[in-house]
Amino acid sequence: MVYIAVMGHGVVGSGVVEVLQTNHQGITGRAKEDIRVKYILDLREFPDLPYANLFTKNFDDIVNDPEVKVVVETMGGLHPAYEYVKACLEAGKSVATSNKELVACKGAELLKIAQERNVNFLFEASVGGGIPILRPMSQCLAANDIYEIVGILNGTTNFILTKMIREQMSFADALAMAQKLGYAERDPSADIEGADACRKICILASLAFGKHVYPEQVKTEGITAITLPDVEYAHSDNRVIKLIGRAKILDGGHIFAAVYPALISRDNQLSSVDDVFNAVMVRGNAIGDVIFYGRGAGKLPTASAVVADVIDCVKHLQARKYLYWEDGEEGYVSDPLEDNVRLYVRGEADDKAAATAEIRQVFGDVHMLSRAGEGEKELAFLTPLSTERTLRQELGGMQHLQAASILHVLD
Ligand code: HSE
Repeated sequence: MVYIAVMGHGVVGSGVVEVLQTNHQGITGRAKEDIRVKYILDLREFPDLPYANLFTKNFDDIVNDPEVKVVVETMGGLHPAYEYVKACLEAGKSVATSNKELVACKGAELLKIAQERNVNFLFEASVGGGIPILRPMSQCLAANDIYEIVGILNGTTNFILTKMIREQMSFADALAMAQKLGYAERDPSADIEGADACRKICILASLAFGKHVYPEQVKTEGITAITLPDVEYAHSDNRVIKLIGRAKILDGGHIFAAVYPALISRDNQLSSVDDVFNAVMVRGNAIGDVIFYGRGAGKLPTASAVVADVIDCVKHLQARKYLYWEDGEEGYVSDPLEDNVRLYVRGEADDKAAATAEIRQVFGDVHMLSRAGEGEKELAFLTPLSTERTLRQELGGMQHLQAASILHVLD
């Protein structure tokens, strides 16, 4: 028998308890141990649950109990999750967490403590919900030099954009639906403003490239400024708008990392990833492109990944595992404005003919877009490839066009 504790009985934590109960027999067989929950830490009361006797409000019950070998952290947020997880690892307990903020901000430090104490710190559920991505990336793709990761990493925003594109549902209604379905973060601004996807690309880049990437190093743009005209212009050019996270290796030991909404061609496989689904494309020098696809959020898919980590911890109670990266450093992530990009621009022209002539004069080979019901002064186009800094400077200097929306184009 191996005892575990679950810290946080929210959407994911309650899912972990549910999966452990529902699949108890199979899990016992695969773990070769009977895994029992001894404590559930939560400040709220759950008197009607059949396992109400397991609840405690006191973290010391868990950290001071030598019978508890593995701790699940599904509280979310940085504090007190960081202090609790650190204390558990230092007490020689393995930890499995779904907490993206914790791993993105403190991953290197906690992995180091786990290594020193010869225990595991696993976080498969922190990226892509139920999709196996971190373990396959670090194990199955270990022979590769990974040079780029690009993905749809947030289920809530993908759900919202899909509803806007397919059903012309309003942003607010789609967000409310995502919250009801348990996809959104407690504070959904973390979803729609890109912070959640930013944390996930930090974790993926840290693991793939071996050095910690901190959220504050990653330029992050969410989807709150996306309008239906932008969706229509994208559609007119056989593209869709998706929120993507991207990281790639650059020359000189630097990396590029950013989160932004991008126009994706319908020829690109990422364009057909809809609803709450996530997809992560990993590009390696031996394997080529690999895509991981599945449910990126939700109670049971995410709990499934946490419980798999628990089983792994139970099977390797005294063995340090494979996840590891070093501390990060200032200047490791390059200035994203130096990246070569194409931009989508929608703007207001004072004189459409003059603005079109100016656009062609400034940018040369542009691709003009049109949509049904286009405003009298509205213009939209795709720029040719150049550094983002140059393109933005040129846009800023235009006489006849005021840019209202600037988005990346993913080719
Ligand atoms: N709020 C997150 C999402 C949950 O929508 O993707 C899974 O990390």
